[in-house]
Amino acid sequence: MRVVSGIQPTGNLHLGNYLGAVKQWVAMQDEVQAAGGETMYFIADLHGLTQWIAPATLNANTIEMTATLVAAGIDPERSILFNQTRVPAHSELAWLLNNVARVGWLNRMTQFKDKAGKNREGASVGLYDYPVLMAADVLLYNATHVPVGEDQKQHLELARDIAAKFNMDYERELFTLPEPLVSKEAPRIMSLRDASAKMSKSNPSEMSLIKLIDSDEVIADKFRKAKTDPEPLPDSWEALEGRAEARNLVTIFAALADRTPADVVAEFAGKGFGQFKPALADLAVAKLGPIRNEMQRLLDDRAAIDAILARGAEKARALAAPTLRAAQETMGLVA
Ligand code: ADP
Ligand code: TRP
Repeated sequence: MRVVSGIQPTGNLHLGNYLGAVKQWVAMQDEVQAAGGETMYFIADLHGLTQWIAPATLNANTIEMTATLVAAGIDPERSILFNQTRVPAHSELAWLLNNVARVGWLNRMTQFKDKAGKNREGASVGLYDYPVLMAADVLLYNATHVPVGEDQKQHLELARDIAAKFNMDYERELFTLPEPLVSKEAPRIMSLRDASAKMSKSNPSEMSLIKLIDSDEVIADKFRKAKTDPEPLPDSWEALEGRAEARNLVTIFAALADRTPADVVAEFAGKGFGQFKPALADLAVAKLGPIRNEMQRLLDDRAAIDAILARGAEKARALAAPTLRAAQETMGLVA
């Protein structure tokens, strides 16, 4: 079992990113390794280029994302942690796979349509080709499992199609078909101001999201001011139907405490938000405070982060080289 996943270097990581993605990676690191498998995680900085980003921001975001992953529990001694750019085989294999993928397949990708919007002619070729690079990211390592969010499942299916077509066209079982792992446990965290929208860095309201760099005071304040209703908590999760804000806060509590939402509702049954919110704020500060402090310590030590990425890339390059070479041989580029 080899688990491979990537995350784009977006800045300003928030509680949704942490509970929905990063925390799942950490859990997987432990589970997969206990079962004798390997975990590889990378910062998809090349994917970061597909929509305009200022160079200094891209670089800072890559560093920040690395610090966040390490602070949250990705252990660079146990997982291979790197950024795409330092492993040129990603780009090289992507070019080879560009000749296997079909235009008709890419035309069906919903994320491209969403991101390109109305101005499709003006979208970058990189944005269009993004899923082929993503296929290269995982096929390069013969990944067996790829943890992704729901929105990336279609890209993973494309990676499987590309792998299967390559194997068939060249009559050689070179690539492993990767399985997407869409975690059922990964919660979807909603905005603290409007529980019908997901918590997102693109939400203009500062109060709608908890950032991983927020101080303890800011975290507590944002939870205190989170939108709720005047009713106390009921005695079952089902009874929260129709109370989206309340459900969201209970979901956050449960995810932070590694408990089920039902269990959390049972504990607070009959209590109002005047009691629940301070308990949630304390829990969040206890869980997120240490991550923020460790992140800040790492960010003050750029050399250490650089060393982590350099070492990770070295290991990744060693694993990538035989697959790239085999693909080049198979296609007749090298004898
Ligand atoms: P954003 O919406 O803030 O731009 P991204 O699209 O960059 O976030 O998502 C990065 C990762 O975090 C993805 O794996 C995504 O599934 C996860 N994620 C983002 N927002 C949430 C959320 N509100 N709840 C759960 N997971 C989330
Ligand atoms: N496209 C993914 C996202 O936006 C990030 C990503 C890039 C990725 N390459 C990958 C995820 C390979 C899994 C495997 O979330």
